[in-house]
Amino acid sequence: MDTKKILIALLLFTTMFSFSQGKDLPKDFLPSKFHKERRALLRSKMPNNSVAVFFANPSRNRANDVDYLYHQDPNFYYLTGSREPNAVLLIFSEKQQSAKGLYNELFYVEKKTARAEVVSGPGIGIDGAQKLLGFKNVFYGKDFATISVDFSKFDKVIFEDFKNDVRDDKRTDADLYDLILTFKTKISYQTSSDKIPASDKNIKLATNIDVTAVKGLMATLREVKTKEELVLLKKAVRISAMGQVEIMKAMHPKMSETEVQGIHEFVYKKYGAEYEGYPSIVGAGNNGCILHYQENNKMSLKNDLVLMDLGAEYRGYTADVTRTIPANGKFSKEQKLIYDLVYEAQEAGIAQYIIEGKISTPGLTARKIINEGLYKLGIIKSVDEKHPYFPHGTSHHIGLDVHDPGNYTTFAEDMVLTMEPGIYIPEGSKCDKKWWGIGVRIEDDILITKNGPIILSADAPRKSDEIEKMMQQKSIFETYTLPDLDKK
Ligand code: GLY
Ligand code: MN
Ligand code: MN
Repeated sequence: MDTKKILIALLLFTTMFSFSQGKDLPKDFLPSKFHKERRALLRSKMPNNSVAVFFANPSRNRANDVDYLYHQDPNFYYLTGSREPNAVLLIFSEKQQSAKGLYNELFYVEKKTARAEVVSGPGIGIDGAQKLLGFKNVFYGKDFATISVDFSKFDKVIFEDFKNDVRDDKRTDADLYDLILTFKTKISYQTSSDKIPASDKNIKLATNIDVTAVKGLMATLREVKTKEELVLLKKAVRISAMGQVEIMKAMHPKMSETEVQGIHEFVYKKYGAEYEGYPSIVGAGNNGCILHYQENNKMSLKNDLVLMDLGAEYRGYTADVTRTIPANGKFSKEQKLIYDLVYEAQEAGIAQYIIEGKISTPGLTARKIINEGLYKLGIIKSVDEKHPYFPHGTSHHIGLDVHDPGNYTTFAEDMVLTMEPGIYIPEGSKCDKKWWGIGVRIEDDILITKNGPIILSADAPRKSDEIEKMMQQKSIFETYTLPDLDKK
C-alpha cells in the first residue's frame, strides 16, 4: 500500500470508530451499581485479611494477525462490567491505607496506544472506568508493576490458577501477559511448569496463595440470579426460542445444516443479541448423535430428525435451548417413539425443579423413565442394562456462562437451570437398525420460583404434535431467494 492508501484506510477506520463509539448503543447492559454490589457481596464472603485478584480474559489468536472476537471472562465481567482485555482487579476484604486515603479495591485498565485506538477503537481508559463502571481507584496497567501492596502480609491471596496460555504482545509492557508476570513475581508464585523470572529465583515460595477459593465464592454468588440478571437471561432465552420457531416454519429436506444455523443466528441478531453463547449445534440424523457436533456442514437434511442446540447471548447472558424436529415436518413412527419418550422424561424432570429439591433428582427421574422406555421398545435388554444412549447429565445453571458456576446441591429461588434429557442411537448401535441415526435432545431453561418451575423457553413448541403443527406454518424464508452463483 502506498502512503495515500494508508492515510485513506486510517481515515476510514477513524470515521467508523467514531460512529461505533457514538451514543446509539445498547442501553440495557447491567448497570455499574450491579457490579459494585456484587463486589461488596464477594468482599463480605472473603476470609479476613485476604485479597482476591481477578484477571481479564486474554485475546485469542485466530490466524496470522486476526484474533477471535473478544469475550470477557465471566467472573471478571460479573465483578467489573468491563469488556476489555489487559486488566486486573484487586478486591480487599478490609479497607487498606495508602498515602491518598483508604481503599478496598484497585482496578488496572489498558492504556491504548494511538495506533491501537485506530485499529480497534478507543478503550475505556481511567476516565471511563470511573464514570461508566463506577470505580474510584483506577490506574493504567503499567502502574501495576509499582503497586505498593505487600501481598505477603495477607493471610490469603485468592486467585484462579493460571493456564499458561497467554501470549506476550511485545509491543507493550502492560498487556495481560505482563500483568500476570508482575503478579507472579510479587507473590513468589512458582510451579514446575511456570517459572518466575530467573532474576527472582531466590524468592521463597509464598504460603498464603489460595487457588481454590475463587471457584466456590463465585459459584455461591453467581448461582442465584438477581432481578437485573433475570431480565437479560429471560430475553436471551426468549430470543433463542423465537429462533427455533422461525426454523420450524422454514425447514425443508433440501435445506443444509449451515442454512438452519444461519436462520437461527439471523433471528438472534435481528433481536440485537451480540453473539451465540456457545458454538451452534445443528445435526441431522447421525450427526445429531454427536453431543457437541459443530461442523454443521451436511448439505441436505433429507428426511432426518434435526437436533438444534442453540443459544443466543444477550448482553452477556446466554440461553441454552434444544429442539429436535423432523426435516420434512412429520415424525416417522420410530422418530416419534423416541421423541415422545424424551419428552416424557423431560416433563417428569421439570416438575421436580422446586425450591429445596435436590438438583440431582430430575436427572435420576429422567434416566429411570428413559431406561424403562428403551427396554419396552426392545432397544436395551433390561432396565438395568448399562447403555450408551443417554450419555450426559440433564441440569446445569446458565447465566454469563452456558455452563454457569454453582454448588449443585439444592434448587433455590431465582436459579435458572437447563433440563435436557436425550436419546442418541448412532448408526451401528447394538439394536434393530430401524432406530439408527435417531438423536433426540429436548432442552429447556427453567426458572425456579416460589410458585414452581417456569419454562422460560416455552415459546418454542416441545410436544411432537405441536412441533408438526408449527412446521406447517408459512415462513418468510420461503420467498427469500438469492441468485444461483453456480449457474453457468
Ligand atoms: N449446549 C451445551 C449444553 O447443552 O450443555
Ligand atoms: Mn445444556
Ligand atoms: Mn444445549
